[in-house]
Amino acid sequence: MSDVADLAAALRRTLSRHLRAGAWAAPGGATARPDPATLPVDEAVDDEAPARPRLALAEVRAELGDCTRCGLAATRTSIVFGDGPPDAPLVFVGEAPGADEDRQGVPFVGRAGELLDKMIAAMGWRRSQVYVTNVLKCRPPGNRTPKPDEVAACRPFLDAQLAALAPRLVVALGRPAANTVLGTDAPISALRGRFHDVGGYRVMPTFHPAYLLREPDRKRDAWSDLKLVMAELERLDIRPDGA
Ligand code: URA
Repeated sequence: MSDVADLAAALRRTLSRHLRAGAWAAPGGATARPDPATLPVDEAVDDEAPARPRLALAEVRAELGDCTRCGLAATRTSIVFGDGPPDAPLVFVGEAPGADEDRQGVPFVGRAGELLDKMIAAMGWRRSQVYVTNVLKCRPPGNRTPKPDEVAACRPFLDAQLAALAPRLVVALGRPAANTVLGTDAPISALRGRFHDVGGYRVMPTFHPAYLLREPDRKRDAWSDLKLVMAELERLDIRPDGA
């Protein structure tokens, strides 16, 4: 079987587990419990078996392997898969690793990461309580914008990652992230400021922290987007652990 077919099968298994565990949130926050009879027969799982989102995320990472699916493999130092608890209800998706992230193998650890950490803290969460990843798992040389073939190669892994995490809310940071997660090519200014419901979770597009470092006047808009996220988390009764 091809890598993509393997990945699709793993994704279907993961979705089946989440659906059977009742962990799949329908758009709008209602919990959809599907009729088990409608699940594919070859995906049947033991009802006594616990949901294993941790393993599923590890499976996605294992599937990615020492990836050479696009040209970025030739110039990267590290694959930057993602960082955070596998059961985080809140996920941030950025564009691609930069130089610091490529060196350390962890997303958002450079200047943009410092601002992202502050944004997360201002929302009342800690970085260790949310999951952070990027559309691309490898650094584009010179931090250039991801090319369509690079996004196409990486996208199944972002999709599988989000399916494994089954978050309640996703914050898409900047246009490449928002376009990839939402499957559109609209500018970020046309997408931000409201929720979009895709794949069982709500997505709030907002400005990328690197853009906010260049255009600090837009921080006010980003903060108003994050306040909507905070209000939605409150409405869904989702609080950071320990709060
Ligand atoms: N910018 C991103 O989009 N992601 C990172 O991990 C770092 C900077």
